Amino acid sequence: MHKTSALGRVLELLVVAALAATADDAEAESARCAEVAFIQSARSLFHNLELAEQKARFQSFMTMLSTASTSSLKELKWQVLRTFPAVEVQANPACSNIGGRFPTLVSRNQSLLDAYATYACGDAADYFVTDPARSLSAELAPLEGGCINLHNRWSTIRATFASNESHGEYLHRDCPESCLQEEFWHQLPTQVVDHDLLVLPSIPGPPGMGYQHSLIDFLPQAWTVLDLLWNSSTKLVVHSSLPSHLLASLGFPTERILEVPPLTDEQPAMLLCAKKGRTMHLWRAGGGSRALPSHPYQDSRVDGDLWHRLIDIQVGPEISDAIAQYNGFVEEPFAPRLVVFLQRCTDRRTLENEQAALEAISRALVKSNRPEELLSMCAGREDFLEQVQKVRRARLIVGAHGGAMANMVLARPDTGVIELVGDAAAQKGLEGLWPPYKSNFYGGLGAAFPFYRVVLYEADPHGKLWIRLDDLQTAVTEFLDRL
Ligand SMILES: *[C@@H]1O[C@H](CO)[C@@H](O)[C@H](O)[C@H]1NC(C)=O
Ligand SMILES: *[C@@H]1O[C@H](CO)[C@@H](O)[C@H](O)[C@H]1NC(C)=O
Ligand SMILES: *[C@@H]1O[C@H](CO)[C@@H](O)[C@H](O)[C@H]1NC(C)=O
Repeated sequence: MHKTSALGRVLELLVVAALAATADDAEAESARCAEVAFIQSARSLFHNLELAEQKARFQSFMTMLSTASTSSLKELKWQVLRTFPAVEVQANPACSNIGGRFPTLVSRNQSLLDAYATYACGDAADYFVTDPARSLSAELAPLEGGCINLHNRWSTIRATFASNESHGEYLHRDCPESCLQEEFWHQLPTQVVDHDLLVLPSIPGPPGMGYQHSLIDFLPQAWTVLDLLWNSSTKLVVHSSLPSHLLASLGFPTERILEVPPLTDEQPAMLLCAKKGRTMHLWRAGGGSRALPSHPYQDSRVDGDLWHRLIDIQVGPEISDAIAQYNGFVEEPFAPRLVVFLQRCTDRRTLENEQAALEAISRALVKSNRPEELLSMCAGREDFLEQVQKVRRARLIVGAHGGAMANMVLARPDTGVIELVGDAAAQKGLEGLWPPYKSNFYGGLGAAFPFYRVVLYEADPHGKLWIRLDDLQTAVTEFLDRL
């Protein structure tokens, strides 16, 4: 990379960090600290970097990538850190994917249930290759002086490959010859880091969706290695100050974190290398003796093989407890649990009858004579620790699909979830990836919850969105009746 362009990148990072700062004083203060850390880590990256070394590393990576299929490359040696048992899945009689890869829909309207089953076992039958009914493991492999390409989820690059001159492996989707011809491979900015590193290939979410993807694609995976890293000299690689912020809430030392430039729309991919003599530890979700299935390169089912997410709900309660302990949460053991309603609280995709939904939940609570208290919250307006405190008291979480629902990762293991999801018509015209009925259950992540249901919201002829209130009340009652 040219010196001036490197400086340009640092400035760009500052703009991003400045934009992230908010009006709130405490937040502004922590944003400033994050900003300083950010600048420092950006500087340390650009320190001592020789153009010649970057070029050489990039060339060597490309050579290994192009020989990967014919291969004299040796495989990496994976070590199991922790295993996760298969989740017991209650398959739906109408469609076996429901309950496993897709959540159960609650509706009194049989034609809606039929349409959903037709989707989950018809059109979308092979969307996900993930399967919560498989046992998984978190695994690590060392790679001496190697490189890995990282890309955000919306980048055209869909393959992740890690190698040095003798060893190498795909960590996400293989790259056939046609993929090697793609232009993006010729313009990967290269960062060579003079540290031992640990890379979670799952980290880069889509730009601008930092919070939910840090909770779903980063924190649970990172949790499996934190003990190992805590007192070591190896740094955990992150792409923005947000994951660092989450790790700080666990007391994880900032010296163990290396922030590399975020993957943005303008800069969707990079090559990250460990200097010769340094080790890059790689993380993956493994499937024991049988390899986990993956989708082929450039498959349009972008999120269909996100195996790493399937451990989230199993480690979530441990992370939540660790946050509570580190931050000295005072939790009254006999305080009533909550039914937490996560409101949209933005002008985007407003649900017209959100208030009436709150009343429907309240009616269901009163009718079933339960002690739980109803709490409505605007997650986006609260500090992370405040959100964790409330989610930890939740007995049931209700909310529309969106960033705030990612908080479910930090709920207690006995918590129920009711997610409001849109049918195809309600999601028409939205930017990004919006398969019908899109939910956080997504491929089986939610299957580890004892109760996870979705309820539809629908668009009227004017495009306004309405929650199906009677279905919501049915779902809430169904949950309460089980208690
Ligand atoms: C079921 O829902 C659809 C879509 O909202 C509606 O058109 C239809 O009339 C409903 N059927 C019944 C039996 O209520
Ligand atoms: C590549 O990494 C492997 C695994 O750590 C190591 O055994 C090997 O010596 C490395 N090869 C080179 C050329 O550095
Ligand atoms: C790290 O070292 C400190 C001090 O020796 C020790 O108290 C702590 O338990 C260690 N943490 C981990 C996770 O090993």
